[in-house]
Amino acid sequence: MTPKEEIEQLRKELELHNYNYYVLNQPTISDYDFDQMMHKLEDLEMFYPQYADPNSPTQRVGSDLSQSFKAVAHKYPMLSLANTYNEGEVRDFYNRVKEGLEGEEFEICAEMKYDGLSISLTYVDGELVQAVTRGDGVKGDDVTNNVRTIRTIPLKLREGSGYPHEFEIRGEILMPWTSFEKLNEERAKREEPLFANPRNAASGTLKSQSSKVVAQRGLDAYLYYILGDEIPADSCHYENLQMAASWGFKISQGMRKCKTVEEVLDCIEYWDEERKNLPVATDGIVLKVNSLRQQRHLGYTAKSPRWAIAYKFKAERACTRLNEVTYQVGRTGAVTPVANMSPVQLAGTVVKRASLHNADVMRELDLHIGDMVYVEKGGEIIPKVVGVDTSQRSADMEPVRFARLCPECGAELVRFEGEAAYYCPNDSACPPQIKGRIEHFISRKAMNIDSLGPETVDDYYQRGLIRNVADLYTLTVAAICGYNKNRVRSAQKVVDGVRATLQVPFERVVFAVGIRFVGETTAKLIARHFKSMEALRNATVEQLMEVDGVGMVIAESVVKYFQDPVNADIIDRLAGYGVQMQLSEEQLSAQTDKLAGKSVVISGVFQKHSRDEYKAMIEQNGGKNVGSISKKTSFVLAGDNMGPSKLEKAQSLGVEIVSEEEFLQMLE
Ligand code: IVH
Repeated sequence: MTPKEEIEQLRKELELHNYNYYVLNQPTISDYDFDQMMHKLEDLEMFYPQYADPNSPTQRVGSDLSQSFKAVAHKYPMLSLANTYNEGEVRDFYNRVKEGLEGEEFEICAEMKYDGLSISLTYVDGELVQAVTRGDGVKGDDVTNNVRTIRTIPLKLREGSGYPHEFEIRGEILMPWTSFEKLNEERAKREEPLFANPRNAASGTLKSQSSKVVAQRGLDAYLYYILGDEIPADSCHYENLQMAASWGFKISQGMRKCKTVEEVLDCIEYWDEERKNLPVATDGIVLKVNSLRQQRHLGYTAKSPRWAIAYKFKAERACTRLNEVTYQVGRTGAVTPVANMSPVQLAGTVVKRASLHNADVMRELDLHIGDMVYVEKGGEIIPKVVGVDTSQRSADMEPVRFARLCPECGAELVRFEGEAAYYCPNDSACPPQIKGRIEHFISRKAMNIDSLGPETVDDYYQRGLIRNVADLYTLTVAAICGYNKNRVRSAQKVVDGVRATLQVPFERVVFAVGIRFVGETTAKLIARHFKSMEALRNATVEQLMEVDGVGMVIAESVVKYFQDPVNADIIDRLAGYGVQMQLSEEQLSAQTDKLAGKSVVISGVFQKHSRDEYKAMIEQNGGKNVGSISKKTSFVLAGDNMGPSKLEKAQSLGVEIVSEEEFLQMLE
């Protein structure tokens, strides 16, 4: 056998063992033998780099090389499904289908709705060539290198299994419960922030810069939708997926073809309970008309297919004892009550803390310490207390009263009119508020100092190195390291990271300083309007309200911010260190009023600039970017693959469609 043949044979065998182990759960060789084979292949590939292949089983371990993800347009947009929540809505769906098919017989395929993130995989000649996230449905991120490390996704399809020359298959990437809990345990040990749920963990992992990290996190994938020009037009969804399974894919568990709505409802009832035994998170059942021909006949609404629907399971509920209510102080000083309870199993994880939101919610629940409380996990993953079993309450239990003093600094809490939350007013000396503001300042969308994180901020704060954001600019390597010389490299990174922020544009500085109610968009609007910190600082409430999108609450908050001498001092110091305090020359000269008074909708995928760049251009030229088409829309800036429903809407309202080239000409 030539080395090339040997390499090919090893790859084929390893891929088969991989499939037996991960997809079928039925290994046919020992781990030891598998490792031996893998080592042999690794050696051969090292000796014969000319036969390298990104789809070799050796590549499943990933690499340390950092990567950035390219945006890729979907060949077919990735739509979402309409949701239903009860039997009646499921019956309505069934009847709509029945009506739409005008008496023709049909089958409904019921399958699990997996709660992960959707992925689209493209195979050509049986090989994985591209994996793209859903993104905004029109275009997503190319995460192929990361997806290659997911063992249940075949890199090469099983030979002779009759797959089409080219097709796309879509499904869900998930982090199984066991991997999720292991990961969070490790993160807790390292004092890193925990992932709220397997979905966030899977999505954080899939976007990791290092495919090696992805390989270690144990992701899984279930595929549920196949499409492509070669899929027979008169075939059926269920049967096509069974075929996909024979090519090597893991498909939805317990798929069932139903003829009547009663069968559909049975299926829902069965899985509502049984899903608790599945290794991954599910949040419903997806119902799909089985015949592709009938699917085409039913078609799509603006957002979702008429031939499919999701039934969402009701949130799971558990009952446990309330032991204590503690309070968390956030960056803005808002105080959130937290229920501390006896640990209880809920929707796959152990829960011992739940949010109580605010004083009103707490009062309504009329909680007593020692109460048996009901906890639910809804769409939001932080569990919440939804009720009390008062029948188990005894007379000696103390009612819970909302805290009067800040648990962090002892200041008396205040409540602003019309707001549910209590605040700690001691914003210049309450530790979590100070640290929170610094964390906000360094965050990605603000000054983006990625060499600093919450733990480092906490450490510097404890050591008295920083008390506010301006102090960051006084940090030196010597001060950070103290006597610990091992820290020199990371300290240098921090100092460099801080210095790099002198390039951060003014509008992000306005966001970064953390003025209450001034989010990213508002910061941009007021920065562009006032052009410099000096002008913004002198602006009156009335002048601020002249900015489109700025109302009384925001305007008053801005004025109040600058009136505080502590803030004024911070701004002066930042300016002194060289932080950008006005729009750049470029921005100032690029500003025109060519699009003044125009509201523009952006749709589709573009060749010359990104969507965000077009958005910025519209704003820089005095126009306004809006989300949906209406009578008031001045024109639609349309790229490739503009959604058919948007097109239809624009045409019916007589809104002009402007191409990328035409738009650029307009601004010239
Ligand atoms: S089919 C056009 N099937 O749910 C139909 N989706 O709101 C495309 N999902 O974005 C989707 N399990 O990420 C389909 N068995 C399943 C699913 C499923 C989970 C997700 C998917 C989609 C969302 C729909």
